Amino acid sequence: MKLEVVILAAGQGTRMRSNLPKVLHPLARRPLLAHVLASARTLMPVRIHVVIGHGSELVRDALDAEDLAWVMQEEQLGTGHAVLQAVPGIDSDSTVLILYGDVPLLRASTLEGLIDNAPALLTAELNDPEGYGRVLRDSGDQLEGVVEHKDATDEQRAISEINTGVLAYPAALLAEYLPRVGNANSQGEFYLPDVLSMAVKDGHCVAALRADESSEVMGINDRVQLAEAETVYRQRAAAALMTAGVSLADPARIDVRGNLHCGRDVFIDVNCVFEGDVTLGEGVCIGPNCVLKNCTIASDTQIHAMSHIDESQVGSSCSIGPYARLRPGTVLADSARIGNFVETKKAVIGLGSKVNHLSYVGDAELGDGVNVGAGTITCNYDGVNKHKTSLGDGVFIGSNSTLVAPLDVGDGGFVAAGSTVTRDVPESALGVSRAKQRNIEEWQTPKQRAGNDETQSGD
Ligand code: UD1
Ligand code: CA
Repeated sequence: MKLEVVILAAGQGTRMRSNLPKVLHPLARRPLLAHVLASARTLMPVRIHVVIGHGSELVRDALDAEDLAWVMQEEQLGTGHAVLQAVPGIDSDSTVLILYGDVPLLRASTLEGLIDNAPALLTAELNDPEGYGRVLRDSGDQLEGVVEHKDATDEQRAISEINTGVLAYPAALLAEYLPRVGNANSQGEFYLPDVLSMAVKDGHCVAALRADESSEVMGINDRVQLAEAETVYRQRAAAALMTAGVSLADPARIDVRGNLHCGRDVFIDVNCVFEGDVTLGEGVCIGPNCVLKNCTIASDTQIHAMSHIDESQVGSSCSIGPYARLRPGTVLADSARIGNFVETKKAVIGLGSKVNHLSYVGDAELGDGVNVGAGTITCNYDGVNKHKTSLGDGVFIGSNSTLVAPLDVGDGGFVAAGSTVTRDVPESALGVSRAKQRNIEEWQTPKQRAGNDETQSGD
């Protein structure tokens, strides 16, 4: 069977009250339409047609890809009219799956079930069906058609089974019935669901399958619904993690905005955000309020509270934070330690090396067993170019040192606390560059000047 997908995304989304087209509003940091495209792609269709209208250029620019056929709907005359615009590009022997750009939470398995039963409509039972099209069934429970809320009688409005809009339909039936759909209804629109009642009247049998979960078919019309969808997305991600052997301090307080892969027995404390592709090895423990983006953390490493890790690789049994910031290009070997208020960038840090307090390490390569004292700064930037700092194995950098790059400290080298180091320190040597201390005996503290009776508080 040949599958083509049509995604309707031409509507304005007035109720978002936004300059951004509705389908570009982000859910878990990705546009709504990107979620729909991702579900569509898992079905391996031969083509995906996206019907656009409002903000069409923005939508196209944001999501253009080779497998997409963009279809322009200049005027939004209804869902039937929208699909009709795509029909000339669809092969007559295909099965067409129709999706909405603002219904982002559908599962691939639900869609597969629908396609297997085509022609088939996806329906849902809602406690509050207000506004939706209602599903009409005959006495034998067979689908008769859909009536829009605005056109429905009170009796029909009491029906709780609604049209989700998702439809799997043979292209031949669309081509036959769509051009015959009229707009003599309360909204003066060409309704897509009219093809259902037309086909049924001609003796075709159309399945109406109920979705298991109503949250799956939820459509986004305003920002309240967008936030609700975010919650559903979050809950799903949390449930999947827990099923895979991850402990979450609170499943309601984790945000996965991308792909998070975890080994067994990972623990994640509250309010952590994961973006892009993140991999956590077995036994990794993440403290509260951490943000991890495109990074790999090997087994048994501890990331303490409030740490921020971006485009970095961390070895196993490391300790990071609290309050650490690992910027792009940070690579930590096993058992390294990055402590509080330390920032690293393009820094390769060797086995068991420590940068424990208040330091900046950028454009640097540290060997194994290096100890960088509190308040050390690699001065990597001269205002124009970046320069590299290289510290050999076993180097010890005393506190409050300023390492002016380019700089090389050989294996076993030592830099005395408070030094500003501008020249290389050879292997096993001590580099010291600070003013010699002199002590002034019997030092008289300043006295208050005569006539100045203002009380000095010293602050
Ligand atoms: C539609 C269905 C309704 C169903 C509901 C489910 C029709 C007539 N009604 O109603 O039975 O219960 O969805 O959410 O189909 N669109 C276009 N071009 C248009 C009109 C719409 O691309 O000319 C797109 C919109 O951008 C949106 C989707 O189609 O993605 C649905 O349109 P919308 O106006 O929201 O339909 P509803 O009135 O919600
Ligand atoms: Ca809608």
